[in-house]
Amino acid sequence: MRPLITSSEIEQEVAKLGSTIADDYQGRRLTVLGVLTGSIVLLADLIRRIDLPLQVGLIQAASYRGRTTTPGPLAINQDFLPEIRDRNVLLIDDIFDTGQTLSRLVEIVQQAKPAEIRTAVLLLKKGRSTVEMRPDYVCFPIPDEFVVGYGLDYNDEYRHLPYIAALDESDL
Ligand code: IMP
Ligand code: MG
Repeated sequence: MRPLITSSEIEQEVAKLGSTIADDYQGRRLTVLGVLTGSIVLLADLIRRIDLPLQVGLIQAASYRGRTTTPGPLAINQDFLPEIRDRNVLLIDDIFDTGQTLSRLVEIVQQAKPAEIRTAVLLLKKGRSTVEMRPDYVCFPIPDEFVVGYGLDYNDEYRHLPYIAALDESDL
């Protein structure tokens, strides 16, 4: 495992993102919508850096299956989705890789008729996108490597690491 982004670098960027969001959403009704499970650590840190009234909600999406690093079919569970009609929704995910997950989630969330949807991610893997959309807010663009930590998992392990590390073939 190779460390890629330190916990203090993450802390700094998340604080910056929080104040940017606070500026951008001043006077608007904000719902921060975290994507389970990968966004939990970012969600917890980020909402404490947004100095505005806001609501928090969750939606579940799963595309990685067990011990594989390639996406399987996308499953979305809206059971935890709060009332978001006429609210300004900011969807939060751990990483934008091919973009399939976030673009599909935007379509689904749109059906609940929010006033607006924007997206924010901790990481964006460069040169991987297969969709037109890009996240509105990105903390760190990264090379095309499989990474874990700060919410990101391999087979549901490593989510608790306070930093981001790249896994090599020999780690899998
Ligand atoms: P996408 O749909 O290809 O953009 O992939 C998004 C989802 O795949 C993310 O929410 C992650 O859960 C997962 N994912 C993509 N790349 C990685 C990675 O490098 N490590 C861990 N999970 C990843
Ligand atoms: Mg995920």
